[in-house]
Amino acid sequence: MQEQLTTEKVILEERQGEAVDLPGTNGHGKKLYVESYGCQMNFSDSEIVASVLIKDGFQTTRIMEEADVIMVNTCAIRDNAEQRVRGRLDEFRRVKKTNPDLVVGVMGCMAERLKTKLLDEDKLVDIVVGPDSYRDLPNLVRVAETGQKAVNVLLSREETYADIAPVRLGGNGISAFISITRGCDNMCTFCVVPFTRGRERSRDSESIVEEARQLFADGYREVTLLGQNVDSYLWGGGGLKKDILAKGDLTGTVSFAELMERVAQVSPLLRVRFSTSHPKDLSDDVLHVMAKYRNVCSYIHLPVQSGNSRVLDLMNRGYTREWYLQRIQRIRELVPECGISTDTISGFCTETEEEHQDTLSIIEAAQFDFAYMFKYSERPGTLAAKKLEDDVPEEVKGRRLQEVIDLQMRLSEESNRRDIGKTFEVLIEGPSRKSPDFLQGRNTQNKVIVFPRENFEKGQYVNVLVQDCTSATLKGVAVR
Ligand code: 5AD
Ligand code: SF4
Repeated sequence: MQEQLTTEKVILEERQGEAVDLPGTNGHGKKLYVESYGCQMNFSDSEIVASVLIKDGFQTTRIMEEADVIMVNTCAIRDNAEQRVRGRLDEFRRVKKTNPDLVVGVMGCMAERLKTKLLDEDKLVDIVVGPDSYRDLPNLVRVAETGQKAVNVLLSREETYADIAPVRLGGNGISAFISITRGCDNMCTFCVVPFTRGRERSRDSESIVEEARQLFADGYREVTLLGQNVDSYLWGGGGLKKDILAKGDLTGTVSFAELMERVAQVSPLLRVRFSTSHPKDLSDDVLHVMAKYRNVCSYIHLPVQSGNSRVLDLMNRGYTREWYLQRIQRIRELVPECGISTDTISGFCTETEEEHQDTLSIIEAAQFDFAYMFKYSERPGTLAAKKLEDDVPEEVKGRRLQEVIDLQMRLSEESNRRDIGKTFEVLIEGPSRKSPDFLQGRNTQNKVIVFPRENFEKGQYVNVLVQDCTSATLKGVAVR
């Protein structure tokens, strides 16, 4: 099974960019258009969905207007993410006017959160499918084609799609995502993910290493191991993490540090990244593997959320301000020159002005290179929505967020300025966004570096001397 799918993937990659048709039973060459919103996990899941439907005879298309089936992969993490999807549904309505047989499916976290409510909300939607039900899509499409509504939002204790080779959609052919865990058991009080993606389970370690090997053979030079909390990865023959731990015997299990080491050994030319790390679970073992293997990138995304221990406790994050700062110190000791980024939430329930100041001061103390910064958005059904009052006024949330952004902009620029005069190894990802005469890639710290094209090509490693920067990008020239 695994072998056959792998061979098919090779064919697909060779024909990347074209519509692809493989023998199937139901699709008969009908066209599938997939659009993704939200986290990297969603983009990775869309590649599973494409694979499932291509096996069923569909072709993928990048042109929405020629689609027979539109699938939109949605995010529910903040209210504005859901509003954006609702806006897109209006666009699909326009396409349906010219093609009344068009089938529109909503998948991902918003589908799981709203379930059949989505069908009541918007008559346009034909299919609602949650993150653990993508294998059922051929059936769901068949039902929808008869004019009925089709829904599957069952969450699973086992599903990891380990045997499905993803079809790489719209990538650069150089870096790819490999999903290693699904779901989340952390129950941060603000977060809807445990409800939309279910309990945490890890994927078979062998299937992960095999996927990395195949990607390398196909010309890929970078993989990102994906999970809601990668440090919590534990392979023990299948099933939920909590059940593996309950057995009390970890012999024969594979931890995240061990998994990363095995992936790193695929080839020294294959860069390994991972996301997202949780401060309470990031172990020294992981940092040691990062230090030991040059191809494991020196970059950690370590969401802090708040710099105040009382707020962290209300968020159920499982660590204090001091613990977080100690983890940062440990990273700096064991992986010098490591790039570190974070996520923050401004205006969480009952956050005071002093507590907001603690977030500013932890950002300053940690010296993040980059951050994703958000205003708290209450999500129905979460523990915070049930137990805490969303009592920070909107304009206060906005002002606090702006202060966080202003500080981080300064730190990002300072971090980039410190890189001027340094030489970094860059993996070339393709032409720069602004000009075909320039190429762009990333250094191990995940910073984007732009430099003149000369005769270099994507997929090559090149040393670049940094000469200039903005707050977002480094600029330089290749040196030999
Ligand atoms: N409101 C605002 N931000 C949130 N995040 C998660 N849930 C919420 C919410 N309800 C942020 C966190 C998380 C990132 C993916 O999204 O910072 O790390
Ligand atoms: Fe949400 Fe917390 Fe799980 Fe991240 S670790 S997905 S923020 S519950």
